[in-house]
Amino acid sequence: MAKPALRYVCQSCGASYGRWQGRCEACGGWNTLSQEARTATLPGQKTSVSAKREARRGIELVTLQGSDTPPPRMVAGLNELDRVTGGGFVPGSVLLLGGDPGIGKSTLLLQTAALMSAKDYKVVYVSGEEAIDQVRLRANRLNLAHHNIALGADTQVEDILATLQRETGVRLLIIDSIQTMWTENVDAAPGTVSQVRASAQILIRYAKQHDVTVVLVGHVTKDGQIAGPRVVEHMVDAVLQFEGEGGHRFRLLRALKNRFGPTDEVGVFEMTGAGLAQVENPSSLFLDNREQNCPGAAVFAGMEGTRPVLVEMQALVAPTPFGNPRRTVVGWDTNRLAQLIAVLDARCGVRLGQYDVYLNVAGGLRVLEPAADLAVAAALVSSLSGVPTPHQAVFFGEVALSGSIRPVGQAQTRLREAQKLGFTSAFGPKTMTKDASNSALSLKALEHLGQMVKALGGKG
Ligand code: TYD
Ligand code: MG
Repeated sequence: MAKPALRYVCQSCGASYGRWQGRCEACGGWNTLSQEARTATLPGQKTSVSAKREARRGIELVTLQGSDTPPPRMVAGLNELDRVTGGGFVPGSVLLLGGDPGIGKSTLLLQTAALMSAKDYKVVYVSGEEAIDQVRLRANRLNLAHHNIALGADTQVEDILATLQRETGVRLLIIDSIQTMWTENVDAAPGTVSQVRASAQILIRYAKQHDVTVVLVGHVTKDGQIAGPRVVEHMVDAVLQFEGEGGHRFRLLRALKNRFGPTDEVGVFEMTGAGLAQVENPSSLFLDNREQNCPGAAVFAGMEGTRPVLVEMQALVAPTPFGNPRRTVVGWDTNRLAQLIAVLDARCGVRLGQYDVYLNVAGGLRVLEPAADLAVAAALVSSLSGVPTPHQAVFFGEVALSGSIRPVGQAQTRLREAQKLGFTSAFGPKTMTKDASNSALSLKALEHLGQMVKALGGKG
Protein backbone atom coordinates (compact mmCIF):
# COMPACT_ATOMS: atom_id res chain seq x y z
CA MET A 1 0.00 0.00 0.00
CA ALA A 2 1.28 3.43 -0.86
CA LYS A 3 2.40 5.58 2.01
CA PRO A 4 0.00 8.47 2.64
CA ALA A 5 1.49 11.57 1.08
CA LEU A 6 2.75 14.09 3.57
CA ARG A 7 3.12 17.79 3.30
CA TYR A 8 4.46 20.52 5.53
CA VAL A 9 2.22 23.48 6.12
CA CYS A 10 3.30 26.83 7.56
CA GLN A 11 1.13 27.57 10.56
CA SER A 12 1.32 31.29 10.17
CA CYS A 13 0.70 31.80 6.47
CA GLY A 14 -0.60 28.48 5.15
CA ALA A 15 2.11 27.90 2.49
CA SER A 16 2.72 24.20 1.93
CA TYR A 17 5.94 22.34 1.04
CA GLY A 18 6.84 18.83 -0.05
CA ARG A 19 9.60 18.49 2.53
CA TRP A 20 10.41 19.96 5.89
CA GLN A 21 12.53 23.06 6.14
CA GLY A 22 13.39 25.37 9.00
CA ARG A 23 12.11 28.57 7.50
CA CYS A 24 8.96 29.29 5.55
CA GLU A 25 9.96 30.94 2.29
CA ALA A 26 6.58 32.58 1.89
CA CYS A 27 6.36 34.48 5.16
CA GLY A 28 9.87 34.14 6.52
CA GLY A 29 8.71 32.53 9.78
CA TRP A 30 11.12 30.19 11.53
CA ASN A 31 10.06 26.74 12.65
CA THR A 32 6.48 27.29 11.59
CA LEU A 33 6.08 24.21 9.37
CA SER A 34 4.15 21.27 10.71
CA GLN A 35 3.59 17.89 9.13
CA GLU A 36 0.16 17.00 7.81
CA ALA A 37 -1.32 14.30 5.64
CA ARG A 38 -2.18 15.54 2.20
CA THR A 39 -5.97 15.76 1.86
CA ALA A 40 -7.17 13.93 -1.18
CA THR A 41 -10.42 15.82 -1.50
CA LEU A 42 -12.13 18.60 0.20
CA PRO A 43 -15.48 17.74 1.74
CA GLY A 44 -18.26 17.73 -0.80
CA GLN A 45 -15.93 17.56 -3.80
CA LYS A 46 -16.69 14.96 -6.40
CA THR A 47 -13.69 13.25 -7.86
CA SER A 48 -14.69 10.64 -10.38
CA VAL A 49 -14.01 11.48 -14.03
CA SER A 50 -17.68 11.53 -14.90
CA ALA A 51 -18.41 13.76 -11.96
CA LYS A 52 -15.77 16.17 -13.17
CA ARG A 53 -17.25 16.19 -16.64
CA GLU A 54 -20.65 16.78 -15.17
CA ALA A 55 -19.30 19.74 -13.24
CA ARG A 56 -18.01 21.32 -16.46
CA ARG A 57 -21.39 22.32 -17.69
CA GLY A 58 -20.42 25.95 -17.93
CA ILE A 59 -21.78 28.85 -16.02
CA GLU A 60 -24.25 31.50 -16.97
CA LEU A 61 -22.66 34.87 -17.65
CA VAL A 62 -24.72 37.95 -16.90
CA THR A 63 -24.44 41.73 -17.18
CA LEU A 64 -23.60 44.14 -14.41
CA GLN A 65 -27.14 45.43 -14.38
CA GLY A 66 -29.64 43.51 -12.34
CA SER A 67 -31.85 43.71 -9.35
CA ASP A 68 -30.19 46.18 -7.05
CA THR A 69 -32.25 45.78 -3.93
CA PRO A 70 -29.88 46.02 -0.99
CA PRO A 71 -29.47 42.83 1.01
CA PRO A 72 -32.00 42.47 3.84
CA ARG A 73 -30.50 43.00 7.28
CA MET A 74 -30.95 41.53 10.70
CA VAL A 75 -30.52 44.42 13.09
CA ALA A 76 -29.24 43.54 16.52
CA GLY A 77 -30.31 46.83 18.04
CA LEU A 78 -26.83 47.38 19.42
CA ASN A 79 -26.01 50.63 17.63
CA GLU A 80 -22.26 50.41 18.00
CA LEU A 81 -22.27 46.94 16.43
CA ASP A 82 -24.86 47.64 13.75
CA ARG A 83 -22.88 50.64 12.57
CA VAL A 84 -19.78 48.51 12.06
CA THR A 85 -21.59 45.71 10.25
CA GLY A 86 -23.09 48.31 7.91
CA GLY A 87 -26.62 48.28 9.31
CA GLY A 88 -27.08 44.77 10.64
CA PHE A 89 -26.15 41.20 9.73
CA VAL A 90 -26.77 40.08 6.17
CA PRO A 91 -28.38 36.62 6.05
CA GLY A 92 -25.97 34.07 4.61
CA SER A 93 -22.91 36.18 5.35
CA VAL A 94 -19.95 35.04 7.39
CA LEU A 95 -18.12 37.34 9.79
CA LEU A 96 -14.81 36.79 11.48
CA LEU A 97 -14.45 38.51 14.85
CA GLY A 98 -10.80 38.81 15.85
CA GLY A 99 -9.22 40.08 19.03
CA ASP A 100 -6.81 39.35 21.86
CA PRO A 101 -7.82 36.71 24.36
CA GLY A 102 -9.84 38.25 27.18
CA ILE A 103 -10.74 41.40 25.27
CA GLY A 104 -14.46 40.58 25.40
CA LYS A 105 -15.33 38.74 22.18
CA SER A 106 -17.44 36.10 23.88
CA THR A 107 -19.15 38.77 25.98
CA LEU A 108 -19.99 40.85 22.91
CA LEU A 109 -21.36 37.85 21.06
CA LEU A 110 -23.41 36.61 23.98
CA GLN A 111 -24.95 40.05 24.34
CA THR A 112 -25.60 40.16 20.59
CA ALA A 113 -27.12 36.69 20.69
CA ALA A 114 -29.45 37.76 23.48
CA LEU A 115 -30.57 40.88 21.61
CA MET A 116 -31.17 38.87 18.42
CA SER A 117 -33.13 36.20 20.25
CA ALA A 118 -35.25 38.90 21.88
CA LYS A 119 -36.20 39.88 18.34
CA ASP A 120 -37.30 36.31 17.68
CA TYR A 121 -34.34 35.36 15.54
CA LYS A 122 -33.27 31.84 16.32
CA VAL A 123 -29.68 31.87 17.59
CA VAL A 124 -27.33 28.95 18.10
CA TYR A 125 -24.17 29.58 20.14
CA VAL A 126 -21.53 26.88 19.92
CA SER A 127 -18.65 27.22 22.32
CA GLY A 128 -15.55 25.21 21.57
CA GLU A 129 -13.53 26.83 24.32
CA GLU A 130 -15.74 26.98 27.32
CA ALA A 131 -17.97 24.42 28.96
CA ILE A 132 -21.71 25.00 29.08
CA ASP A 133 -21.45 25.97 32.75
CA GLN A 134 -18.95 28.70 32.01
CA VAL A 135 -21.14 30.20 29.32
CA ARG A 136 -24.12 30.00 31.67
CA LEU A 137 -22.12 31.71 34.36
CA ARG A 138 -21.33 34.55 32.00
CA ALA A 139 -24.99 34.73 30.93
CA ASN A 140 -25.97 35.02 34.60
CA ARG A 141 -23.42 37.71 35.20
CA LEU A 142 -24.74 39.62 32.22
CA ASN A 143 -28.29 39.04 33.37
CA LEU A 144 -29.14 37.35 30.08
CA ALA A 145 -29.88 33.84 31.29
CA HIS A 146 -33.58 34.10 30.54
CA HIS A 147 -32.96 34.57 26.82
CA ASN A 148 -33.85 31.85 24.40
CA ILE A 149 -30.44 30.92 22.99
CA ALA A 150 -29.65 27.37 21.88
CA LEU A 151 -26.31 26.63 23.50
CA GLY A 152 -23.89 23.87 22.60
CA ALA A 153 -20.33 22.97 23.49
CA ASP A 154 -18.50 21.05 20.79
CA THR A 155 -15.56 21.30 18.43
CA GLN A 156 -16.41 18.77 15.74
CA VAL A 157 -17.74 20.57 12.69
CA GLU A 158 -19.67 17.64 11.19
CA ASP A 159 -21.39 16.99 14.52
CA ILE A 160 -22.32 20.64 14.79
CA LEU A 161 -23.77 20.66 11.28
CA ALA A 162 -25.70 17.46 11.97
CA THR A 163 -27.16 19.15 15.03
CA LEU A 164 -28.11 22.18 12.99
CA GLN A 165 -29.92 19.97 10.45
CA ARG A 166 -32.31 19.07 13.27
CA GLU A 167 -32.98 22.66 14.17
CA THR A 168 -35.16 24.61 11.81
CA GLY A 169 -35.18 28.31 11.25
CA VAL A 170 -31.70 29.07 12.60
CA ARG A 171 -30.79 32.65 11.64
CA LEU A 172 -27.55 33.26 13.51
CA LEU A 173 -24.82 30.78 14.32
CA ILE A 174 -21.95 31.78 16.58
CA ILE A 175 -18.81 29.65 16.59
CA ASP A 176 -16.50 30.49 19.51
CA SER A 177 -13.77 29.96 18.29
CA ILE A 178 -12.76 28.79 14.80
CA GLN A 179 -9.34 27.72 16.14
CA THR A 180 -10.92 25.02 18.28
CA MET A 181 -12.92 23.50 15.41
CA TRP A 182 -11.86 20.40 13.53
CA THR A 183 -13.24 18.38 10.67
CA GLU A 184 -12.74 14.67 10.03
CA ASN A 185 -11.83 15.46 6.41
CA VAL A 186 -8.45 16.80 7.38
CA ASP A 187 -5.80 14.80 9.11
CA ALA A 188 -4.22 17.53 11.24
CA ALA A 189 -4.45 18.77 14.78
CA PRO A 190 -7.15 21.33 15.67
CA GLY A 191 -5.84 24.86 15.48
CA THR A 192 -3.53 24.16 12.55
CA VAL A 193 -3.96 26.18 9.41
CA SER A 194 -5.38 23.23 7.45
CA GLN A 195 -8.00 22.49 10.09
CA VAL A 196 -8.98 26.10 10.52
CA ARG A 197 -9.24 26.59 6.78
CA ALA A 198 -11.21 23.42 6.13
CA SER A 199 -13.55 23.97 9.08
CA ALA A 200 -14.19 27.54 8.02
CA GLN A 201 -14.87 26.39 4.48
CA ILE A 202 -17.51 23.94 5.66
CA LEU A 203 -19.17 26.52 7.88
CA ILE A 204 -19.12 29.11 5.09
CA ARG A 205 -20.77 26.66 2.73
CA TYR A 206 -23.40 25.98 5.38
CA ALA A 207 -24.04 29.72 5.78
CA LYS A 208 -24.54 30.26 2.05
CA GLN A 209 -26.69 27.18 1.55
CA HIS A 210 -29.02 27.83 4.46
CA ASP A 211 -28.97 31.63 4.51
CA VAL A 212 -27.71 31.66 8.06
CA THR A 213 -25.42 34.39 9.36
CA VAL A 214 -22.33 32.81 10.85
CA VAL A 215 -19.97 34.62 13.21
CA LEU A 216 -16.57 32.99 13.68
CA VAL A 217 -14.41 34.06 16.59
CA GLY A 218 -10.68 34.13 15.85
CA HIS A 219 -7.83 34.76 18.25
CA VAL A 220 -5.09 37.20 17.52
CA THR A 221 -1.43 36.35 17.99
CA LYS A 222 1.07 38.58 19.76
CA ASP A 223 2.09 40.28 16.54
CA GLY A 224 -1.47 41.30 15.85
CA GLN A 225 -2.41 38.77 13.23
CA ILE A 226 -5.51 36.67 13.51
CA ALA A 227 -3.68 33.41 14.13
CA GLY A 228 -4.21 30.80 11.47
CA PRO A 229 -7.36 32.54 10.31
CA ARG A 230 -5.17 34.85 8.21
CA VAL A 231 -6.05 32.20 5.67
CA VAL A 232 -9.74 32.58 6.50
CA GLU A 233 -9.82 36.35 6.06
CA HIS A 234 -10.24 36.20 2.30
CA MET A 235 -13.02 33.62 2.53
CA VAL A 236 -15.32 35.48 4.89
CA ASP A 237 -17.52 38.45 4.04
CA ALA A 238 -16.39 40.65 6.88
CA VAL A 239 -13.47 40.80 9.27
CA LEU A 240 -14.16 42.65 12.49
CA GLN A 241 -11.47 43.41 14.99
CA PHE A 242 -12.20 43.94 18.66
CA GLU A 243 -9.39 45.87 20.28
CA GLY A 244 -8.39 47.77 23.37
CA GLU A 245 -5.39 48.28 25.62
CA GLY A 246 -5.06 45.96 28.56
CA GLY A 247 -5.98 47.79 31.74
CA HIS A 248 -8.32 50.21 29.97
CA ARG A 249 -12.04 49.77 29.87
CA PHE A 250 -12.56 51.02 26.33
CA ARG A 251 -13.02 48.61 23.48
CA LEU A 252 -13.13 49.46 19.82
CA LEU A 253 -14.80 47.36 17.19
CA ARG A 254 -13.35 48.02 13.74
CA ALA A 255 -14.26 46.54 10.38
CA LEU A 256 -11.04 45.59 8.56
CA LYS A 257 -12.99 44.21 5.63
CA ASN A 258 -16.68 44.31 4.88
CA ARG A 259 -18.36 43.20 1.68
CA PHE A 260 -21.67 44.62 2.87
CA GLY A 261 -20.72 47.88 4.51
CA PRO A 262 -18.10 50.51 5.22
CA THR A 263 -14.68 49.66 6.64
CA ASP A 264 -14.02 52.98 8.29
CA GLU A 265 -16.65 52.79 11.01
CA VAL A 266 -15.87 51.95 14.60
CA GLY A 267 -18.05 50.93 17.48
CA VAL A 268 -17.00 52.11 20.92
CA PHE A 269 -17.77 50.04 24.00
CA GLU A 270 -16.87 50.16 27.64
CA MET A 271 -16.31 46.98 29.62
CA THR A 272 -18.28 47.26 32.83
CA GLY A 273 -19.08 44.86 35.63
CA ALA A 274 -22.24 43.94 33.78
CA GLY A 275 -20.83 43.43 30.31
CA LEU A 276 -20.17 45.78 27.43
CA ALA A 277 -21.92 49.12 27.45
CA GLN A 278 -22.18 51.31 24.38
CA VAL A 279 -20.34 54.60 24.37
CA GLU A 280 -22.38 57.14 22.44
CA ASN A 281 -20.04 60.07 22.91
CA PRO A 282 -16.43 58.83 22.84
CA SER A 283 -14.80 62.27 22.91
CA SER A 284 -16.10 63.30 26.30
CA LEU A 285 -14.96 59.93 27.61
CA PHE A 286 -11.42 60.15 26.25
CA LEU A 287 -11.02 63.69 27.51
CA ASP A 288 -12.21 62.87 31.02
CA ASN A 289 -9.86 63.98 33.82
CA ARG A 290 -7.63 66.12 31.67
CA GLU A 291 -4.95 67.92 33.63
CA GLN A 292 -4.64 71.69 33.35
CA ASN A 293 -1.32 73.31 32.55
CA CYS A 294 0.66 70.14 32.09
CA PRO A 295 3.36 70.42 29.42
CA GLY A 296 3.52 67.64 26.85
CA ALA A 297 -0.18 67.19 26.14
CA ALA A 298 -2.14 68.24 23.07
CA VAL A 299 -5.71 67.41 22.10
CA PHE A 300 -6.06 65.82 18.69
CA ALA A 301 -9.31 66.44 16.83
CA GLY A 302 -9.52 63.06 15.16
CA MET A 303 -12.03 61.05 13.20
CA GLU A 304 -12.98 57.41 13.63
CA GLY A 305 -14.95 56.57 10.55
CA THR A 306 -17.58 59.23 10.24
CA ARG A 307 -17.47 60.15 13.90
CA PRO A 308 -15.25 62.80 15.43
CA VAL A 309 -13.21 61.63 18.41
CA LEU A 310 -11.17 64.07 20.46
CA VAL A 311 -8.29 62.47 22.28
CA GLU A 312 -5.26 63.69 24.19
CA MET A 313 -1.79 62.91 22.85
CA GLN A 314 0.76 62.85 25.66
CA ALA A 315 4.50 63.16 25.16
CA LEU A 316 7.37 63.05 27.58
CA VAL A 317 10.79 64.17 26.45
CA ALA A 318 13.69 63.47 28.81
CA PRO A 319 17.49 63.61 28.39
CA THR A 320 18.95 60.27 27.35
CA PRO A 321 21.09 58.82 30.15
CA PHE A 322 22.86 56.33 27.85
CA GLY A 323 23.94 56.28 24.22
CA ASN A 324 20.88 55.48 22.16
CA PRO A 325 17.76 57.56 22.76
CA ARG A 326 14.60 55.56 23.37
CA ARG A 327 11.38 56.04 21.49
CA THR A 328 8.46 54.35 23.18
CA VAL A 329 5.01 54.61 21.69
CA VAL A 330 1.62 53.43 22.93
CA GLY A 331 -1.32 53.85 20.58
CA TRP A 332 0.52 55.38 17.63
CA ASP A 333 2.95 54.30 14.92
CA THR A 334 6.63 54.18 15.96
CA ASN A 335 7.87 54.89 12.44
CA ARG A 336 5.61 57.86 12.15
CA LEU A 337 7.05 59.24 15.41
CA ALA A 338 10.61 58.77 14.13
CA GLN A 339 9.68 60.61 10.95
CA LEU A 340 8.08 63.48 12.85
CA ILE A 341 11.12 63.82 15.11
CA ALA A 342 13.32 64.00 12.01
CA VAL A 343 11.11 66.68 10.44
CA LEU A 344 11.13 68.73 13.66
CA ASP A 345 14.91 68.51 13.68
CA ALA A 346 15.61 69.18 10.00
CA ARG A 347 12.90 71.77 9.27
CA CYS A 348 12.24 73.52 12.56
CA GLY A 349 15.47 73.22 14.49
CA VAL A 350 13.81 71.31 17.34
CA ARG A 351 16.52 68.86 18.38
CA LEU A 352 15.39 65.67 20.06
CA GLY A 353 18.48 63.60 19.21
CA GLN A 354 19.73 63.62 22.81
CA TYR A 355 16.33 62.93 24.35
CA ASP A 356 14.27 59.86 25.12
CA VAL A 357 10.76 60.27 23.75
CA TYR A 358 7.70 58.58 25.20
CA LEU A 359 4.38 58.99 23.44
CA ASN A 360 1.04 57.84 24.72
CA VAL A 361 -2.50 58.16 23.43
CA ALA A 362 -4.74 58.71 26.44
CA GLY A 363 -7.52 56.28 27.20
CA GLY A 364 -6.02 53.30 25.38
CA LEU A 365 -7.11 54.43 21.92
CA ARG A 366 -5.05 53.46 18.91
CA VAL A 367 -4.82 56.35 16.46
CA LEU A 368 -4.24 55.47 12.81
CA GLU A 369 -4.87 58.79 11.09
CA PRO A 370 -1.92 60.76 9.65
CA ALA A 371 -3.86 63.85 10.78
CA ALA A 372 -2.53 63.22 14.28
CA ASP A 373 0.96 64.45 13.23
CA LEU A 374 0.33 68.02 14.25
CA ALA A 375 -1.02 67.13 17.69
CA VAL A 376 1.94 64.81 18.34
CA ALA A 377 4.36 67.52 17.23
CA ALA A 378 2.64 69.99 19.56
CA ALA A 379 2.92 67.55 22.47
CA LEU A 380 6.62 66.98 21.73
CA VAL A 381 7.43 70.66 21.43
CA SER A 382 5.48 71.46 24.59
CA SER A 383 7.22 68.74 26.58
CA LEU A 384 10.63 69.91 25.41
CA SER A 385 9.98 73.58 26.14
CA GLY A 386 8.03 72.96 29.35
CA VAL A 387 5.30 75.31 28.15
CA PRO A 388 1.82 73.75 28.13
CA THR A 389 -0.18 73.94 24.89
CA PRO A 390 -3.20 76.26 25.14
CA HIS A 391 -5.69 74.30 27.25
CA GLN A 392 -8.66 75.07 25.05
CA ALA A 393 -6.97 74.29 21.72
CA VAL A 394 -7.26 71.30 19.42
CA PHE A 395 -4.76 70.22 16.77
CA PHE A 396 -5.04 68.33 13.49
CA GLY A 397 -3.08 68.16 10.24
CA GLU A 398 -0.67 65.91 8.43
CA VAL A 399 2.99 66.94 8.45
CA ALA A 400 4.87 66.41 5.18
CA LEU A 401 8.59 65.61 5.11
CA SER A 402 9.18 69.20 4.01
CA GLY A 403 7.54 70.40 7.21
CA SER A 404 4.49 71.80 5.43
CA ILE A 405 1.08 71.08 6.92
CA ARG A 406 -1.08 69.10 4.54
CA PRO A 407 -4.85 69.32 4.48
CA VAL A 408 -6.93 66.51 5.98
CA GLY A 409 -10.57 65.62 5.44
CA GLN A 410 -13.63 66.52 7.45
CA ALA A 411 -12.21 69.67 9.04
CA GLN A 412 -15.69 70.98 9.67
CA THR A 413 -16.81 67.91 11.60
CA ARG A 414 -13.68 68.01 13.74
CA LEU A 415 -14.13 71.69 14.52
CA ARG A 416 -17.81 71.29 15.32
CA GLU A 417 -17.02 68.56 17.83
CA ALA A 418 -14.27 70.67 19.41
CA GLN A 419 -16.67 73.57 19.75
CA LYS A 420 -19.33 71.32 21.27
CA LEU A 421 -16.87 70.21 23.93
CA GLY A 422 -15.93 73.74 24.87
CA PHE A 423 -12.68 74.27 22.97
CA THR A 424 -11.99 77.77 21.77
CA SER A 425 -9.18 77.52 19.24
CA ALA A 426 -7.84 75.11 16.64
CA PHE A 427 -4.45 74.65 14.98
CA GLY A 428 -4.82 73.06 11.56
CA PRO A 429 -3.95 73.18 7.88
CA LYS A 430 -4.47 76.30 5.81
CA THR A 431 -7.54 74.90 4.05
CA MET A 432 -9.35 74.77 7.38
CA THR A 433 -10.43 78.40 7.19
CA LYS A 434 -12.08 77.79 3.83
CA ASP A 435 -13.73 74.51 4.90
CA ALA A 436 -15.12 75.95 8.09
CA SER A 437 -15.38 79.69 7.59
CA ASN A 438 -18.37 79.96 9.91
CA SER A 439 -16.69 78.20 12.83
CA ALA A 440 -16.88 79.99 16.16
CA LEU A 441 -13.42 78.74 17.11
CA SER A 442 -10.39 80.93 16.68
CA LEU A 443 -8.66 79.22 13.75
CA LYS A 444 -4.86 79.16 13.57
CA ALA A 445 -4.29 78.12 9.97
CA LEU A 446 -0.73 76.90 9.42
CA GLU A 447 1.35 76.39 6.32
CA HIS A 448 4.46 75.09 7.97
CA LEU A 449 5.25 73.19 11.15
CA GLY A 450 7.69 75.94 12.10
CA GLN A 451 4.79 78.34 12.57
CA MET A 452 3.27 76.10 15.17
CA VAL A 453 6.57 75.62 16.97
CA LYS A 454 6.86 79.42 17.15
CA ALA A 455 3.26 79.84 18.26
CA LEU A 456 3.84 77.39 21.10
CA GLY A 457 6.90 79.21 22.26
CA GLY A 458 9.41 76.67 20.99
CA LYS A 459 12.47 77.74 19.02
CA GLY A 460 10.99 77.52 15.48
P1 TYD B 1 -14.41 37.39 27.28
O1 TYD B 1 -15.65 37.80 26.58
O2 TYD B 1 -14.38 36.04 27.88
O3 TYD B 1 -13.15 37.58 26.33
P2 TYD B 1 -12.72 36.75 25.02
O4 TYD B 1 -13.86 35.92 24.60
O5 TYD B 1 -12.36 37.83 24.03
O6 TYD B 1 -11.52 35.95 25.39
O7 TYD B 1 -14.14 38.53 28.37
C1 TYD B 1 -13.24 38.32 29.33
C2 TYD B 1 -12.92 39.49 30.20
O8 TYD B 1 -13.97 40.43 30.35
C3 TYD B 1 -12.63 38.93 31.54
O9 TYD B 1 -11.33 39.28 31.86
C4 TYD B 1 -13.61 39.55 32.46
C5 TYD B 1 -14.16 40.70 31.71
N1 TYD B 1 -15.59 40.90 31.96
C6 TYD B 1 -16.01 42.05 32.61
O10 TYD B 1 -15.23 42.90 33.00
N2 TYD B 1 -17.36 42.23 32.80
C7 TYD B 1 -18.28 41.33 32.39
O11 TYD B 1 -19.47 41.54 32.57
C8 TYD B 1 -17.81 40.14 31.72
C9 TYD B 1 -18.77 39.10 31.26
C10 TYD B 1 -16.48 39.98 31.53
MG1 MG C 1 -13.94 33.83 24.56
